[in-house]
Amino acid sequence: MLTREEVIALLNPIKDPFLHKTFEETGGIEEITIKEEKKHVSVKVAIGKTNTAEQMQLQQELVNILKKGGAVTVGLRFTQLPDEVIAKYQPTTEDQPSLLSDDTNTKFIAIASGKGGVGKSTVTVNLAIALARLGKKVGIIDADIYGFSVPDMMGVEQRPTLKGNRIVPVERFGVKVMSMGFFVEDNSPVIWRGPRLGKMLTSFFKEVEWGELDYLLLDLPPGTGDVALDVHNMIPSSKEIIVTTPHPTAAFVAARAGQMAVHTKHEILGIIENMAYFESKVTGEKEYVFGKGGGDKLADSLQTKVIGRLSLQQPYEEGEFAPSVYQEDHPNGQEYKRIAAQVIEKFES
Ligand SMILES: Nc1ncnc2c1ncn2[C@@H]1O[C@H](COP(=O)(O)OP(=O)(O)OP(=O)(O)O)[C@@H](O)[C@H]1O
Ligand SMILES: [Mg+2]
Repeated sequence: MLTREEVIALLNPIKDPFLHKTFEETGGIEEITIKEEKKHVSVKVAIGKTNTAEQMQLQQELVNILKKGGAVTVGLRFTQLPDEVIAKYQPTTEDQPSLLSDDTNTKFIAIASGKGGVGKSTVTVNLAIALARLGKKVGIIDADIYGFSVPDMMGVEQRPTLKGNRIVPVERFGVKVMSMGFFVEDNSPVIWRGPRLGKMLTSFFKEVEWGELDYLLLDLPPGTGDVALDVHNMIPSSKEIIVTTPHPTAAFVAARAGQMAVHTKHEILGIIENMAYFESKVTGEKEYVFGKGGGDKLADSLQTKVIGRLSLQQPYEEGEFAPSVYQEDHPNGQEYKRIAAQVIEKFES
């Protein structure tokens, strides 16, 4: 007949069906009672989750093992392991560390503005591409769930694919992209509110196969609404770039987005002044069509610096179709490269 030690030796190598760790590791074999005369063995087993199909299967397996070992009758009781053991061995659903885990190497940059239409999405796309042109591994989350525009701006025509239960982002100009736009048919409006919005954002982080990223840029919706707050809460380590036009009113409104960053303790990397001037092709003269000084004023009020000024100009109509992507040799493409270099300098020196 089996001894206590033999029962332990037989059962210890078996794996917990939920934690995929042996009972030796989890301490799952909690009690053993042996009745010599009846050749009866009863065992109390603690597992990750009780009353499941997996438990039934395990039960069968354990009974077979013990009977093979010499028991005539077997009694099994199942309980749940203590929470701390479960927490310790809980398998992560991802095979890679989550972007949101504490030990991630990814640096987050949220692109914010006070007003809509000042060029946040344009800045996000072009800064991401400039970082990639400088050799960085870069991703974009288009966090403007209602007003997504990143896929169109970059001329993305594919959709993400599935790998197992994970979403593989689309890659364009060396940048991985995830956007609500990929999941909406026929440009129909997104009419979600609060919790569902937050959930979508969370799944952009957790269910997407980002691989290793040096930088993840987030294109925020304008202003200081729900999504901006969610992002602030979800990624406490995120730093921020604030986009404004040079008009004093735009800068004044942008200051509110900046104040939100300050309140939530997100460091502001700097201000980007978009549509800062128009440069005449004929005379080379700069005209300040949207006014002047907004960026500097905003930088002063938020105690930061203007890290770039983009001219009012479209990308060249050449190369791959991507309506808002400035070519590397375009004056704005070069300015984005200078901005990207400053960003890298701020993070990596
Ligand atoms: N420097 C620039 N020169 C010319 N056009 C620009 C420039 N920057 C942005 N634009 C254009 O201005 C419009 C608004 O830009 P964009 O969509 O990037 O702004 P946004 O702040 O993301 O807007 P929203 O608040 O709607 O998300 C777009 O049509 C874009 O192509
Ligand atoms: Mg936008």
